[in-house]
Amino acid sequence: MGENLTRKILRDHLAKPSEMKPGDEIYLKVDQTITHDINAVMTYLAFEAIGLPRIGIESAVSYLDHNLLYIDFKTPDDHIYLQSAAKKFGVHVSRPGNGICHTVQLARFAKPGKLLMGGDSHTPSCGAAGMIAIGVGGMDVATAMTGVPMRLTMPRVVKVYLTGRLVAGVNAKEVILEMLRRETIKGGLGKVYEYVGPGALSLAVPERQTITNMGAEMGATTSIFPADERVREFLRAQGREEDYFDLLPDEDAEYDEVIELDLSSLRPLVACPHQPDNVKPVEEVEKKAVQQVFIGSCTNASYADCAKAALVMRGHHVHEDVSCTLGIASRQIYKQLLRDGYLEMLVDAGVRVLELACGPCCAIGQTPPTNGVAVRTSNRNFRGRAGNPNADIYLVSPETAAATAIRGTFATAEEIMGEEVKILADVTEPEFYRIDDSMLIKPLPAEEAAKIEIKKGPNIRFLPVPEELSKDLRVPVSLKGGDNISTDDITPASAEFSSMRSNIPLMSQYCYTRYDADFSKRAKEMGRSIIIAGENYGQGSSREHAAINPMYLGVKCVVAKSIARIHKGNLINHGIIPMLFENNEDYDRIELGDELEIRDLPGQIPTRKITISDNTKGFAFEVRPECTDNELEVVLAGGQLRFLKKQLKEMGVETA
Ligand code: F3S
Repeated sequence: MGENLTRKILRDHLAKPSEMKPGDEIYLKVDQTITHDINAVMTYLAFEAIGLPRIGIESAVSYLDHNLLYIDFKTPDDHIYLQSAAKKFGVHVSRPGNGICHTVQLARFAKPGKLLMGGDSHTPSCGAAGMIAIGVGGMDVATAMTGVPMRLTMPRVVKVYLTGRLVAGVNAKEVILEMLRRETIKGGLGKVYEYVGPGALSLAVPERQTITNMGAEMGATTSIFPADERVREFLRAQGREEDYFDLLPDEDAEYDEVIELDLSSLRPLVACPHQPDNVKPVEEVEKKAVQQVFIGSCTNASYADCAKAALVMRGHHVHEDVSCTLGIASRQIYKQLLRDGYLEMLVDAGVRVLELACGPCCAIGQTPPTNGVAVRTSNRNFRGRAGNPNADIYLVSPETAAATAIRGTFATAEEIMGEEVKILADVTEPEFYRIDDSMLIKPLPAEEAAKIEIKKGPNIRFLPVPEELSKDLRVPVSLKGGDNISTDDITPASAEFSSMRSNIPLMSQYCYTRYDADFSKRAKEMGRSIIIAGENYGQGSSREHAAINPMYLGVKCVVAKSIARIHKGNLINHGIIPMLFENNEDYDRIELGDELEIRDLPGQIPTRKITISDNTKGFAFEVRPECTDNELEVVLAGGQLRFLKKQLKEMGVETA
């Protein structure tokens, strides 16, 4: 049997021989990394702490793209720090205004066959260009930048065989919403989705980006399309055809699962509150009044997406009760839309053009009103994701968003355009983009870089390092959480909270603030504690602050029914032991404040079975650490920073 594309690329990057059976721990040589401003300060503080003079991989890019609202001194200070650290360590900088990390990375750095690790859960976006792109935590990115091979649990590979073509008014968003409807937000755990077939060939690279981007919402390790003619076309348009080569799965490639999806059967869909897999046809959604529409984000703000939204809006005006904003994904796309007249159509229709940044997607501006309804083309609709926990967020395509903005309630492009909707099928990506990399700062030569002084504003505090592992633990439960707690629940997004991410003593005061307002105070008073949670703990954004803040507040273990992949890695990196119930019924017996006791933790961990006594209720239950062999070593070492320093020493690598 032949080999699928995922295995080909992973095999090509193996640092140690492996049979690559699903579930095996494999070690990979990373080619590229990305970070972005609201997660990266901790990453670069970690890289500084590691003590290497320069990155040890092909390319690293630091994007200043998420929080461009300088509401006080903190974020501009962070940007200055990140720019100076990048210069010091040989990292590219994408300046504020150049665009959103995933879109710019795909356009200017993505290459077939490469392996990218990024400090953002939507890093898989670059899988659209036939490469493996994986979202990880910030400490993992710091590790990857050293050039040390990275561990990964070998995923199962799912063939998604696409047939047919999207009809006019239906977007690649419908493909991924349909996948979410079928697979759910947990369905992709431990899997890579590999999209192939004639339907895949009908999708342009930016459409593929919408799909690979939101594979993250299924919990997938990543998603990928082949490097085929459409990738050649895209790279040619980017003036980078020399980076192209054919990279396809073998004709008789073997897969662990197969899904079939006929693109022509899809109709406009919407993900309803408060999870991205709560998907319904647009016509079945209650026609509520909508107060906000946001067309933007790394998911759905490509040239063709914005042009189609413009055509839906041409000759119409945004409903008087709707605030409609546009966050174009990059400066390159912005300039092209401006030249081709689409921006004017949108402005004529009453759309408000925002910064070229993430902005509203992560609650940086455009918070919905009280009990408001916000319709967005972005990728997450968790409660509070838009900055207001009592608002409802609906996720749709740009075509549906534009139609909804006009009607003031849910509508499809076809309802607005009638027969004319057909013209949307003719909108394509430009044959050539005008290339202007003047907002990308190239790395300095090593001698010049060595002279750079890193600049740290007063808000940039220390990188907290976990305590070494305790022998015995007798600690209370500081939080009993339900299912699907997201990293947004643990560390909320917004301009205000994002600007605190360089200052853990400050930010930790707001840990879980929207989920359980007393948590921070309680955990601090308890000194050391354990969190109990349900299914899919830590889903969503890769932000490692959702691990750092609880660690700083003394949380030693999270015991859950299941834990999302990236968050599990972040917990381990920051010295919190992720554990799963052997028997999920034990979850119901434990209450907030119960005293839990674990004896001889370092002795029990390697047996992969840990007995915890609930001294308050007088019963004992079993859990297993949710770690691979290598992760176990990290846990026993007391976190990734300690482990990595030891590893580099053993490799004979000089660090400061
Ligand atoms: Fe930014 Fe939202 Fe994408 S925060 S990176 S636009 S998921």
